[in-house]
Amino acid sequence: MKTIQIRTEIPGPKSKALLTRREEAIPRGPQLVTPIFAAKSEGAWIEDVDGNRYVDFAGGIGCLNVGHRAPRVVNAVREQLDNFLHLCFGVTPYESYIALAEKLNALAPIRGPKKTMFVNSGAEAVENAVKIARAYTKRPAVICFEDAFHGRTLLTMTLTSKIVPYKAGFAPFAPEVYRVPYAYCYRCSYSKTYPSCELYCAKHLEDTFRRVVEPGSVAAIIAEPVLGEGGFVIPPKEFFPVLREICDKYGIVLIADEVQSGIARTGKMFAIEHFGVEPDLITTAKSLGGGLPLAGVTGRAEIMDAANPGGLGSTFAGNPASCVAALAAIETIEVDGLLARSTALGKRFEARVRGWQKKWGIVGDVRVLGGMCAFELVKDRETREPASAETKELGRYAYEHGLITITAGTLGNVMRILVPLVVTDEQFDEGMDVLEAGVSHISEKKQPVASHA
Ligand SMILES: Cc1ncc(COP(=O)(O)O)c(C=O)c1O
Repeated sequence: MKTIQIRTEIPGPKSKALLTRREEAIPRGPQLVTPIFAAKSEGAWIEDVDGNRYVDFAGGIGCLNVGHRAPRVVNAVREQLDNFLHLCFGVTPYESYIALAEKLNALAPIRGPKKTMFVNSGAEAVENAVKIARAYTKRPAVICFEDAFHGRTLLTMTLTSKIVPYKAGFAPFAPEVYRVPYAYCYRCSYSKTYPSCELYCAKHLEDTFRRVVEPGSVAAIIAEPVLGEGGFVIPPKEFFPVLREICDKYGIVLIADEVQSGIARTGKMFAIEHFGVEPDLITTAKSLGGGLPLAGVTGRAEIMDAANPGGLGSTFAGNPASCVAALAAIETIEVDGLLARSTALGKRFEARVRGWQKKWGIVGDVRVLGGMCAFELVKDRETREPASAETKELGRYAYEHGLITITAGTLGNVMRILVPLVVTDEQFDEGMDVLEAGVSHISEKKQPVASHA
């Protein structure tokens, strides 16, 4: 039996009624990607309140790498419910927080002694990583990148690049944040071409240190190993080694923001492992908690210990249910081979989408690093004019036909895949069939078949 079952118009009557209540009770600010209200979920599917069933390619924005209601996670949380819930790790500590820190210390691709602390959200993890880097270096400035996304709090919104909807109207921003171009080769900010550019963007930091901010006042460079909200942009393999070299030269802390790219998404536990570079600090969140809110900062012990006792954390940070869920999620990744599964899904995706690229001019760039996959939609292959409205339409076509997706990109023209890695081949193919039909539908409406790939 197929997973996708569409029984009503979308949204169905019950979802429509809830939409009306949502509009009345909830402000416009919180995002609304689909007009579908969930009733239950399992693995890689979601059923809505009207009895329609969808394949889920969004995973609650990349939080469900181990799947909806992963059995080990559910069992661990159930057991925890019978013991204790909130205590506050800072008041009466408990073992699961320590066990999880030990696990992440062992997994992090950093040599030497490491330590980990927990908070509740990706933004909080980034905030804390910057605080730690500042305490360690005793310097104020942070360098971040164009098209980066690091959260919606004051500092992380400042570090985030995209203006609408994340920054417009929310000024003033946090001080001492400096932004430079990322290695977004398909749309190079310097109009150069890889590899003849010789990593101009990364090396140009030396110029930034002459013209914009003195390196001796820079605490940290924060970068996503693969841009998440910025459109699943994968930098060339030399990008991070150049950043590492520059950080070493000037005593700057290198923070890898793995909130979206980490925890098996790219076929490795951390995406930075693809680049052969050791960051100093790593932020995690999203899929870390296996569906429960949890985030962490892992890094060199010497740096992590720079902050004063009581200077880090929060009331709910490292909640007991979230800690046992995270331990179960990591066990699921390890025991069920989800790193290999992530890589296999990426290959399955690429084989299909490369075919679409040959057939339809609207499919511009195709980007795949393990299960972190996306394609960029363009109106024209030559000009690369972003097909933002068409991308939005593709998202709508998808959910109307039984597939939950989320788009990405500063230009709003990237379709990204954050499917739970426990998806079966059949479910994945069902989802890809919907996307293919959607791309075909949009292409036929909007533009002629391209003559070349
Ligand atoms: C790379 C990255 N950093 C930080 C965040 C912020 O995480 P949260 O939404 O949990 O605050 C996100 C969220 O999408 C992210 O992708």
